[in-house]
Amino acid sequence: MMDISRVCSEEQISDVVKLAREIWADYYVPIIGREQVDYMLDKFQSEEAIAAQLEDGYEYYTVSHGGRSVGYLAIVPDADANMLMISKIYVLRSVRGHGFGRAMLELAEDVCREHRINALYLTVNKNNSHSIAWYTRMGFKNEGPIVQDIGAGFVMDDYRMVKTVGSNLLQV
Ligand SMILES: CC(C)(COP(=O)(O)OP(=O)(O)OC[C@H]1O[C@@H](n2cnc3c(N)ncnc32)[C@H](O)[C@@H]1OP(=O)(O)O)[C@@H](O)C(=O)NCCC(=O)NCCS
Repeated sequence: MMDISRVCSEEQISDVVKLAREIWADYYVPIIGREQVDYMLDKFQSEEAIAAQLEDGYEYYTVSHGGRSVGYLAIVPDADANMLMISKIYVLRSVRGHGFGRAMLELAEDVCREHRINALYLTVNKNNSHSIAWYTRMGFKNEGPIVQDIGAGFVMDDYRMVKTVGSNLLQV
């Protein structure tokens, strides 16, 4: 059975760190190289970095199946833009295509409706064609390139994608 839990405890944070290391090493090394993956894991997905993000308004969730964590989601509101950013959405390779990603996306959409936020956005590496195709299938529109300097000589060379979230469920 699928279950989604909000990450609050140190143990849950460690769970996310483990998932991030496994998924990123497998998935991103061919796209951005080992050095940038190690740098980004250390800067954004260490225990300390995630704890600081939680203090800063990020919400992390893990999705589990049969008692095992198989993916995670991070979202953060952008109050000025009245949008919610999907900062991270990852599923272990062995269980992709079984609805875990969709379930996490639906949770993000529910958070939007709860807070009357109009849209979701994210950035995705230009060479991450699998996920660009997935986001497009899920209703996101590509708004064009965005390059972000993340220090140490690295950049995130991404597209920004946006999905409008309907408010229809609010009326039920
Ligand atoms: C992108 C990702 C989160 C999607 O999660 P997932 O659990 O594999 O996706 P789901 O099974 O929920 O997909 C929902 C639907 O999209 C379909 N789908 C899966 N991959 C697809 C793709 N590349 N293109 C189009 N449709 C796709 C599924 O078959 C499913 O269809 P259905 O509803 O008709 O059964 C996951 O594949 C992943 O972790 N990818 C690698 C890491 C990554 O790049 N993350 C995003 C970083 S920006």
